[in-house]
Amino acid sequence: MAQNTQKGKIMEHTGQPSQHASSRRSFLRKGLAVAGAGTISAGLLATGVPAFAEEASGGLTPGDAAILRFLSALETLETDFWQQYNELGGIQDSEVPGGSGSAKYTAALAVLDSDMAQYIHDNTEDEFTHFTFINAYLVSKGAAPVNLDQFRTLPSSKATGAQQIKRLTNLMQLTVDTSYWTKYRSRTKNPDFGDTFPPAVPGLLQGQFPAIPRSDADLSPKDHIQAIANTAGFHFAFIEQGGTSIYPSLAQRVTHPEVLRILLSIGPTETMHFQTWQDKAGNAPPLTDPTNGLVFPDLNAPPFDTQDFQTNLIMPEPTIFLSRKFPPVSIIRPTETEGAAMGALKALTDDGLFRGQSPTFFAFMHDLAQAADAARHGG
Ligand SMILES: [Fe+2]
Ligand SMILES: [Fe+2]
Repeated sequence: MAQNTQKGKIMEHTGQPSQHASSRRSFLRKGLAVAGAGTISAGLLATGVPAFAEEASGGLTPGDAAILRFLSALETLETDFWQQYNELGGIQDSEVPGGSGSAKYTAALAVLDSDMAQYIHDNTEDEFTHFTFINAYLVSKGAAPVNLDQFRTLPSSKATGAQQIKRLTNLMQLTVDTSYWTKYRSRTKNPDFGDTFPPAVPGLLQGQFPAIPRSDADLSPKDHIQAIANTAGFHFAFIEQGGTSIYPSLAQRVTHPEVLRILLSIGPTETMHFQTWQDKAGNAPPLTDPTNGLVFPDLNAPPFDTQDFQTNLIMPEPTIFLSRKFPPVSIIRPTETEGAAMGALKALTDDGLFRGQSPTFFAFMHDLAQAADAARHGG
């Protein structure tokens, strides 16, 4: 429970209520009152940044605080669903406590790689440290941290091994966009040029699918629990390719070199995750889920046996960047900074992660994303 203690310390330090904050604004005022910050130049208010971002900025520029707060919220959400994966399919230990594992789900994940449980555990721990660090940094600058506890309203899986607590995210009705697969294999297209990409697993975009067993009834038949593990395998890479893009996208608009250093140091860990997960997703066995018809195709067989789908092409193909006048280059994509935060929020929403969440949650996240997108370098 070391992590909970750590989290508890942050809350203690800020005097922030651990649950049921009455409202965002009163929560922010409390955070600021304790931190003793709040001298904001009137000139900054003319930049179009929402007023609450000004309240929250402490010793940081309002833009830097807004970007860090949005990232803290994203990392908190990531932690929430990675914990759900770890409880059932990872390694439950003192580093990542909670849950007791589901043997059949863990075995189905291990079909993708025998180290899946270790990787799930390590990714979960990384996400916990991301939001905990960013919140601690915000507090150190007299800025308000982000706490999403009031939005923990969604149910846990009923499968044996899952903790029975309220969640921020929903892993049981996902609509996973696997176009990242062809995006990173294309040598001629880039989403920053408006290009779109076909999904590797079209079926995952055509319904709502569990990525964890919803109950022990999901543990059979064999191809059903394998389809759930395959869905998780492709979802892991979807999430982490998003993190791979959001950090460089937002880094272009931070002001203070130390805040830039934070984004440049956390962002590439998301890329390390993505690289790992993309490799493992390529090992997902082709099958059809007998309960719902979801198809996982053989990506190395016709009509998929082209460079765009080949499963061992896990390093980015060089592609167009900035302008077609330049030679192709191996890059993260997209990295367009305009509207990046709202884009990330939309992608996660479309993914189904927030199915069942309250309008207040969406409003809260919308405000954080809008404030991050209003941030300007030097502003
Ligand atoms: Fe992260
Ligand atoms: Fe991540």
